[in-house]
Amino acid sequence: MPTPTAVLCGLGTSLPDRSVTNDQLIHDNNLDSDPRWILERTGIQARRMADTHTSTGDLASAAGTAALHSAAEQAGPTITPDIVLLATTTPDHRCPATAPAVAHRIGLGGVPALDLSAACAGFVYALTCAKALITAGIYTHPLIIGAETYTTTLIDPHDRDTAILFGDGAAAALLRPGTDDEPGALLTSTLGSDGARAEFAHVPAGGSRLPFPAPTAAPRDHYLRMNGSAVFTQAVRRMTASALHTLAQTGWTTNDVEAYISHQANQRIINAVADRLQIPQPRRHGNLRQLGNTAAASIPLAIADAADTRSVKPGARTLLTGFGAGLAWGAHTMLFPDARPHSQPPRTHHEDTP
Ligand code: UT7
Repeated sequence: MPTPTAVLCGLGTSLPDRSVTNDQLIHDNNLDSDPRWILERTGIQARRMADTHTSTGDLASAAGTAALHSAAEQAGPTITPDIVLLATTTPDHRCPATAPAVAHRIGLGGVPALDLSAACAGFVYALTCAKALITAGIYTHPLIIGAETYTTTLIDPHDRDTAILFGDGAAAALLRPGTDDEPGALLTSTLGSDGARAEFAHVPAGGSRLPFPAPTAAPRDHYLRMNGSAVFTQAVRRMTASALHTLAQTGWTTNDVEAYISHQANQRIINAVADRLQIPQPRRHGNLRQLGNTAAASIPLAIADAADTRSVKPGARTLLTGFGAGLAWGAHTMLFPDARPHSQPPRTHHEDTP
């Protein structure tokens, strides 16, 4: 019997209600910026922002539940996840991981559940790990979730280098065993990291290197600090190289790519990678303009958006690329899923507690 591959069979999303335009963001935080500059230099017009009562786990639980509804619509309510992987850089607590609470809130009993930290590359990392669990026969139905609340945790609202870029949200994908010729099939992936360039995007304090608050930590050291242009250059280089490697391993040329979905950080980064790969404009899909950079949630949110609008047809040869702090990056080929995404508003912890 051939080794099964992983097939994406359910998609769920959850977004905070509040949409904040560039104008509002600049006004509310007294930022030295300009709405047109932000739109032209990043492609971002608005972003969703969580309130301080909404956690990453609240968004993740709602997106995970929505993904189960999406899968049930297609395959019947028989699919129960047997492991939860939560890709996030903004967990609810330093300890414990957020995934066990999310699994509990979704009603998954005692399944194994873990957080995976690879910043904006988190979802591509999680896809690769989840697929490996299926092909090795260890688990059959991983639920993978990308969820973030950067704006309430890691972003200094007065730092124009980062405040203009990030938004909050979550999206989830349910996987099942299947064959590599069906819609949703996960094909090949390449992952990489470069810790020598960790300081290009990092949070100086709050970990064991420099606990926060501490006498040696400066007041804003618990916020993300980013060298934007250095990250930009690395993002283009690494995503292009990993995409070419993954395409070669899949046996596709760049001409074969019918849909390209990148991590949504900056439209100029996405276009630079797609131009190098010679993927034409109509094959590039994303939702950066309305959602900004949602880190680990950005790729699954963009997949869900393309599935919802039917702008990518089920079975289309799809290339995903991710890049983020670490540095960490990855690329994945897949056949676009045939799943109708479901969406749920974030649920507060109290709503889930009897
Ligand atoms: O999610 C993964 C991690 N993050 C990323 O992938 C983000 C990658 N980096 C970027 O998206 C871009 O580097 C930024 C959007 C952060 C910055 O854009 P840039 O085109 O690289 O700007 P820059 O830093 O090269 O600055 C160009 C000019 C400068 O002015 P002068 O020296 O030309 O007069 C800056 O002072 O733009 C100015 N500038 C701004 N102006 C208005 C920089 N940031 C802003 C701003 N508003 N927010």
